[in-house]
Amino acid sequence: MKKIRSNQGRLFYPALRPRRSAGLLLALWLLAAAGGCACRPRGGAGTVLVRDPHSFSRPGEAFVTHLTLFLDVDFDSRTIKGEASWRIQNLSCSRELRLDTRGLTIRRVQLLEEGRVSEGHFTLGEEMPLLGQPLVIGIEPGTEEVLIEYETTGEADALQWLAPRQTAGKRHPFLFTQSQAILARTWIPCPDPPAVRFTYTAAVEVPAPLTAVMSAGRAAKPEALPGGRKRYRFEMPQAVPSYLMALAVGELGFRALGERSGVYAEPSVLESAAWEFADTEKMMRACEELFGPYRWGRYDILVLPPSFPFGGMENPRLTFATPTILAGDRSLVALVAHELAHSWSGNLVTNATWDDFWLNEGFTVYLEHRIMERLYGKAYDEMLARLGLDELSNTIEELIEDHPEDTHLKLDLAGRDPDDGMTDVAYEKGYLFLRMLEEAFGRERWDAFLRAYFDRFSFQPMTTEGFLGFLDRELLEGDRELAEKLRLHAWVYGPGLPDNLPRVRSEALEKAAAAAGYFAAGVSAAALKTDGWTTHEWLHFLRHLPSPLAVDRLADLDRAFGLTSSKNSEILCQWFLVALPGGYSPVMEPLERFLVRVGRRKFLSPLYRELAKTPGGLKRARAIYARARPGYHPVAIGTIDGILGWKD
Ligand code: BES
Ligand code: ZN
Repeated sequence: MKKIRSNQGRLFYPALRPRRSAGLLLALWLLAAAGGCACRPRGGAGTVLVRDPHSFSRPGEAFVTHLTLFLDVDFDSRTIKGEASWRIQNLSCSRELRLDTRGLTIRRVQLLEEGRVSEGHFTLGEEMPLLGQPLVIGIEPGTEEVLIEYETTGEADALQWLAPRQTAGKRHPFLFTQSQAILARTWIPCPDPPAVRFTYTAAVEVPAPLTAVMSAGRAAKPEALPGGRKRYRFEMPQAVPSYLMALAVGELGFRALGERSGVYAEPSVLESAAWEFADTEKMMRACEELFGPYRWGRYDILVLPPSFPFGGMENPRLTFATPTILAGDRSLVALVAHELAHSWSGNLVTNATWDDFWLNEGFTVYLEHRIMERLYGKAYDEMLARLGLDELSNTIEELIEDHPEDTHLKLDLAGRDPDDGMTDVAYEKGYLFLRMLEEAFGRERWDAFLRAYFDRFSFQPMTTEGFLGFLDRELLEGDRELAEKLRLHAWVYGPGLPDNLPRVRSEALEKAAAAAGYFAAGVSAAALKTDGWTTHEWLHFLRHLPSPLAVDRLADLDRAFGLTSSKNSEILCQWFLVALPGGYSPVMEPLERFLVRVGRRKFLSPLYRELAKTPGGLKRARAIYARARPGYHPVAIGTIDGILGWKD
């Protein structure tokens, strides 16, 4: 063993210095309690351990408590050189630490014990599709910290490297990560189940003109380094699962929205983003009144370039968001309510495995509606709920014949891509289930239950069964008949929608659907009453038009409402979907531009699918895709490759 060296002045040295952490004290306490032998199964620490089919790690043996991360971001080679130092607790005296990796090059492993560093032995196990390879590191009962030197490769599906032309400013490159569901392992060797949490500190070196942000607090002012580089330091004192690890690097500005909230975006986008998200503080206050204190310090939103594959991602303290919600009228801010709500459902109480995904998303959609109702009223929120129910009905219709089990809330994703379970079912059926419970028990009791749930299980994983158990104890009080009457089992473990689903009715949307009916019956577009319609009525109207519509009728709609030149991404996408089956050619160029510029998968999937169905459309879709594909994130590429039968 050799004495620890300072590691080129990076940040390992303080991290590797043994500290009397809470974990160490717990270990010492367990040692005393066990009468001298510190080695005991993990169960003794009182943690619920769930098998995770999407991870090689074995948290029941040695488990991690803290990560010290150093990242050197190199835009030229499009790689990150990393050093990940895991503080561990090895209460069961395990001889190995198993971490998840995928496509990482592991250079070296070192172990720390009582201030001394030794070379570590490691192997990379057999490669499994999707899951990658287990990194198996030999450890001693006394090992306190494990330091891994590694590098990312072109296989890092969590990373999207953007060329300057893919940004708004066009001058600098951009990098962002997307770790959910099982992609954290492609940029950090880590235990990758959502049930495992750790705190972290990080130092990130980037080219000096760029700003680095993480799902964490800023620990210090950035330091200038030689060679035109800059180092940013971050600290995350709340324990988080790996899927919430996030980093973005680009030319970024910042605007405060309130005392503890703000927005990061490229400078030219900043003003419109700050305007769009003006209600963020109000949303935070509504959340706190409803669900308990916000436990994460700051809440900022990062607006990414349009290739971001999702609408939003609830990275703690720093929601990542698509710029396609900047509609100029605040009509798409439910997304902020959603990602903010994850600060309770998901980030505080976390789905134990991806089979329990509805606990994250169904709860979050429920919370999102409560926020929207509070801020904008019941009628407005009911429009959003109705649109959600309609989308759910379509999804169920698509799945129910061949994959009825994918319409259950509790999923069984072992051996499958967790992405397969990430459908409207978790979101919207989950929401309806919770709304049904709210209606059954009344708001007062239900709200008290929700608050107790977030308090009691904060910073812990939750299984579907754990939730049902808590519901049984707190609200059902063991009443079997009531459980039967509410059809609890059918909601969670059964297909489709049980017949006690809540009634979701929006008068405003019914009027929009009626307008679609008049148009279908031959009324001209200009004669329809559309004054005061929000984005949501437009979407409902477009979805209720007959398909295909004749070209002259499409032209009539376009003339009256300027749909092809809509600046609203939701309306524009829905309009393309209406126009394509009718062969309305004026949309073709704007559609191509949209597909090349925007990488949000929710838009890409239906558009490519619809385009491929038109005469000669598959060829056209592939030609557009060939141009657009290099600008998409790997998760979008995976999906669209499948839709278009694309072989790289
Ligand atoms: N956590 C999800 C995004 C996600 C889910 C990423 C699964 C990877 C795997 C996020 O909170 C989300 O649900 N985003 C939605 C928007 C929301 C308003 C429904 C999206 O991106 O469409
Ligand atoms: Zn979500």
